[in-house]
Amino acid sequence: MDAEKHEPGRAKRDGAGLDGLTAEAVARAEFARLTQSDLGQVLELERACFSTPWNEKQFNLALQQKIFHLFGLKANGDLLAYMAFYHAADEMEILNIGVAPAHRRRGAGRRLLGLVLGIARRMGVRRAFLEVRRSNAPARTLYAGFGFEHAGVRAGYYTDTGEDALVLCRDLDGEVAFDARRAAGAQPSAATSENETAGAGRPPAGQRHNPPAKEPIP
Ligand SMILES: CC(C)(COP(=O)(O)OP(=O)(O)OC[C@H]1O[C@@H](n2cnc3c(N)ncnc32)[C@H](O)[C@@H]1OP(=O)(O)O)[C@@H](O)C(=O)NCCC(=O)NCCS
Repeated sequence: MDAEKHEPGRAKRDGAGLDGLTAEAVARAEFARLTQSDLGQVLELERACFSTPWNEKQFNLALQQKIFHLFGLKANGDLLAYMAFYHAADEMEILNIGVAPAHRRRGAGRRLLGLVLGIARRMGVRRAFLEVRRSNAPARTLYAGFGFEHAGVRAGYYTDTGEDALVLCRDLDGEVAFDARRAAGAQPSAATSENETAGAGRPPAGQRHNPPAKEPIP
């Protein structure tokens, strides 16, 4: 991921249309490929999710590249979550995933990541990479639940805080499903060693899987 990103910033505000959204409406949010016409909402969410957000120019440049893909979840037309990645040959680099702050911990991130990984597999992706701040426990737990494993450390990668980036990877040759036991076993903290193995650890805390990503590629 870009060195200027990756830290959950304080929310400025959610889109007004997301106010009062129920958990059921979050669960039913429409999965869609995002385009230029969604950029305003993407930028708003990007600013709510990251302390050093991409700006309009950066998104515009990215959207001109065929290897750049942007997907999201929309509730009543309002963007609830989005995810961006680059796809080249049989690899993908996940650039970012963000969920509207008021609607986190309602399964939107898990659903979106699961759907996008399923689509990526069907696009021919065999290996996914990403970078995440060491201190970003929510994201690290989400990724661990999907079987992402430690691949390396970029020391002092983030220019705003000097924090390390952890490089995580996952082979996509099997089914893509969220495993609550793996997530619960990871429970990362800022002090976690880079030598840890995602997925090792605590006994099962119940298992919850994503539904298979059967939706057509938008
Ligand atoms: C990371 C993020 C996308 C997760 O989205 P979300 O919709 O809240 O996640 P979900 O509700 O789908 O959670 C799925 C699982 O991830 C893990 N998780 C998510 N948030 C967590 C938190 N705050 N603490 C611990 N685990 C968490 C849990 O295992 C959770 O399953 P559970 O709720 O059954 O325990 C969201 O917190 C976010 O937008 N953060 C800011 C942007 C960011 O840091 N993106 C990642 C950049 S690398």
